[in-house]
Amino acid sequence: MVNLSEIQTQYAIEVKNLKKHFKDVKAVDGATLKVQQGELFSLLGPNGAGKTTLVRMLTTVLTPTSGEATINGLSINKKKKDIVKLIGVCPQENVVYDQLTAEENVIFTAQMHSIPLDEAKKKTGVLLEKLGIGGKDRWAKKFSGGMKKRLNVAMSLIHEPSIIFLDEPSAGLDPQARRILWDFIKDMKGKGNTIILMTHDMIEADALSDHISIIDNGKIIAYGTPKDLKAKYGGDNIIEIVFKKADQKQEIKNRLENLSYISSWKENGDFALIISLNGGITYYLKFLNEMQEFLQDGMIEDLKFRPGSLEDVFLNLTGRRFRD
Ligand SMILES: Nc1ncnc2c1ncn2[C@@H]1O[C@H](COP(=O)(O)OP(=O)(O)OP(=O)(O)O)[C@@H](O)[C@H]1O
Ligand SMILES: [Mg+2]
Repeated sequence: MVNLSEIQTQYAIEVKNLKKHFKDVKAVDGATLKVQQGELFSLLGPNGAGKTTLVRMLTTVLTPTSGEATINGLSINKKKKDIVKLIGVCPQENVVYDQLTAEENVIFTAQMHSIPLDEAKKKTGVLLEKLGIGGKDRWAKKFSGGMKKRLNVAMSLIHEPSIIFLDEPSAGLDPQARRILWDFIKDMKGKGNTIILMTHDMIEADALSDHISIIDNGKIIAYGTPKDLKAKYGGDNIIEIVFKKADQKQEIKNRLENLSYISSWKENGDFALIISLNGGITYYLKFLNEMQEFLQDGMIEDLKFRPGSLEDVFLNLTGRRFRD
């Protein structure tokens, strides 16, 4: 007998020390994470961080070098067939059949899942409309990259999986299409599905996620809600200062040491500092006051005040800008 309460308290995904090494490339190097039922979890990391490799192991396409992971309690090493029925996967690279129409692509996928034709047609119509894909009778060959991407999302969801993996679903989408996709993803989550989003788009991760794991060089380097990550590693607000000359920086850095409301700072090239501030505008005004003599001496080329972002979190954790 299946114990219902056990399933309800079970994590949708649990990953323990999972590794995938391709000879000397440690694509995923000991990842550990948990995804709760019904949440939107993002794996955020720069190009080459290991996101796709990790998702390919979780979706049973790749065999891990070592480690363990479960999907709804089922081991990825032992229960591949059962897992495949539970999950929907929208891969990073589009997989559409150019010689079929948009509608035929989704119906064809539905048939691979043994969904009766009438039902498949109905569901396909609904999905294509929700994803803003007009021209369902057009050949997929004639679709733009962004339309193919959304078509791929539709194909991955036609069998109504409860655990959905989306690998960079908004890559190549224009702002309007991205908005439609975000609304669609939120709607899927609202219906109780668990969504795992692989993305290098920090604004997207910030806007959609319940929890985020940040991955870099195959390792998970931070985990939390977007708000907690920013509070812990980013600072409430950020001040960016650009100097006229590189050697002016040291003088200001000495001054920063004594300001209790400055939590940390990082160099940004030779001429700039990115400073994390605990607190809001009142502290910014205090800071400006502190900088008055430097401003009057004309040492400062530019000074900006803005809310902390996940970009700052990444910079503070790794010392690198996300897009380095
Ligand atoms: N089949 C493979 N053989 C050898 N190396 C691989 C293979 N697949 C991935 N890698 C390497 O593993 C690392 C992680 O790649 P992966 O595609 O998982 O990163 P990613 O985070 O998805 O990047 P992106 O944001 O560019 O999609 C990279 O260094 C990549 O070159
Ligand atoms: Mg990838």
